[in-house]
Amino acid sequence: MKHTLILVLSWIVIPHTSCDGIDSLTFPDGFLFGVATSSYQTEGAWNESDKGVSIFDSWVQSCPECIADRSHGNIASDSYHKYEEDAMLIKQLGFNYYRFSISWSRILPNGLTNNVNKEGIRHYKDIIEVLLRNSIEPVVTIYHYDHPQVLEEMGGWTNELMVEWYLDYAKIVFREFGPMVKIFTTINEPQEMCAGYNDNGTAPGKLLPNMVGYYLCLHNVLKAHAKAYHMYDDEFRASQNGLISINNPCSGQVLDDSRDTISADTSFQFYCGMVGHPIYIGDYPPIVKERVALVSKYLGYHKSRLPTFSPKWISYIKGTADFFGLNSYTSEIAHPDPDEARGIYNSDSGIITTHKPTWHNSSIFWLKSVPEGFGNLLRKIKVDYNNPLVFVTENGFPDYGELNDIDRINYFRSYLEELIIAVKRDGCRISRYTIWSLLDNWEFHFGYTTPFGIIKVDFNSPSRERIPKSSAYWWKEVIRTHRLQDVPNINVILANIESVLKSHHR
Ligand code: NOJ
Repeated sequence: MKHTLILVLSWIVIPHTSCDGIDSLTFPDGFLFGVATSSYQTEGAWNESDKGVSIFDSWVQSCPECIADRSHGNIASDSYHKYEEDAMLIKQLGFNYYRFSISWSRILPNGLTNNVNKEGIRHYKDIIEVLLRNSIEPVVTIYHYDHPQVLEEMGGWTNELMVEWYLDYAKIVFREFGPMVKIFTTINEPQEMCAGYNDNGTAPGKLLPNMVGYYLCLHNVLKAHAKAYHMYDDEFRASQNGLISINNPCSGQVLDDSRDTISADTSFQFYCGMVGHPIYIGDYPPIVKERVALVSKYLGYHKSRLPTFSPKWISYIKGTADFFGLNSYTSEIAHPDPDEARGIYNSDSGIITTHKPTWHNSSIFWLKSVPEGFGNLLRKIKVDYNNPLVFVTENGFPDYGELNDIDRINYFRSYLEELIIAVKRDGCRISRYTIWSLLDNWEFHFGYTTPFGIIKVDFNSPSRERIPKSSAYWWKEVIRTHRLQDVPNINVILANIESVLKSHHR
């Protein structure tokens, strides 16, 4: 109870932005900038180099109507073939590191270890080598949603054996790439991935009832992550000396006039807290355990749909992060669902969320630009999780593909000002920031309709030509000066675009 109170208060005790005389435009010394992509969304070559079939290869074939433009990632941004050009772009823009993911089915076409694909291993070594030659640090996500379809045929993340299958795969990744890679994340956004065991908005698109599949998936994923972390500790850390964590998606909370901190905290716990609490505090958040048990009873289950961790598992999972890998895009206002007053339970959290009409829209309905909420989130992580070292492993803005992407620049500028304030004024320990995404790529059920790239990819051209957008030039200047720049005027941007295009195509 005491603990819950502290968590709830953490939304209110620290005020949000007010600069208090600090320089909120200059980044702290040593702060690093990176760009991110993921294998299925970007690399293409879905059936080359002896790659096996992943759950996304299957899903796009079996359910084209699940995707807004009925598209797929068969070629995507073609980074499988164009990784050298991508590395050159990253270098020209001055980024310090590149976060990309490894395709499990390119390494283990059968999912299991009886066939380790040499060509797949060679491919990722080539990428890592070209990055290192150009002084770009490789940051590797071991698994970004796209596990082998053959494992899905055996239940995927609803089968506890998946924990061992993942571990076998992760071991190969550490063994092969660990000597050259110093930052790993085990699993990208478990909460988003596990949604594929509840609805058909993402692969594997299994419509399992009442979140049972979702919770089971999350449970197994947390075990797999913890086992991989401990395996790194036991077998690789001494020789490889890297850092390892997980990518946790979190939304910010903004309070409206009702100042409902309890709903804000409940909403946080049901999303960010599902990974944050087990790793930083231990076990699922108490409010989640309580609510899922309650609603399970209401639905007629004789026990909670949320599986229970034994005390052994609770302590085994706790502490399995060398940094907080934060993926964050937007914020919400949380309210209690009014139906519950009439005894109707529509969701486990009992929360409905709204947006302020003044929040700036993107091309995705759920993603509004809310810099204030981002600042609140950074402070919440500091207070609730004992000020962990935070790497922002994803943040970005989708538009409609315009080259002069002023809305994206405005988004970055306002979010980063909040980040600098959180570090300098509030003492948050944040030392890296990663843009989603380097390139326009395939955005799941939105297909190619909501591009996130700071570099445009021409999906109509067979060569998938890359064209830096205005935001890429803005970033180049930000990194060069280590300082947030004004949103540039159009003439400056056009002059820049011309000169970089010339050097890029020379
Ligand atoms: C999080 C995911 O990691 C990434 O794959 C996705 O494209 C972005 N969010 C944007 O939705």
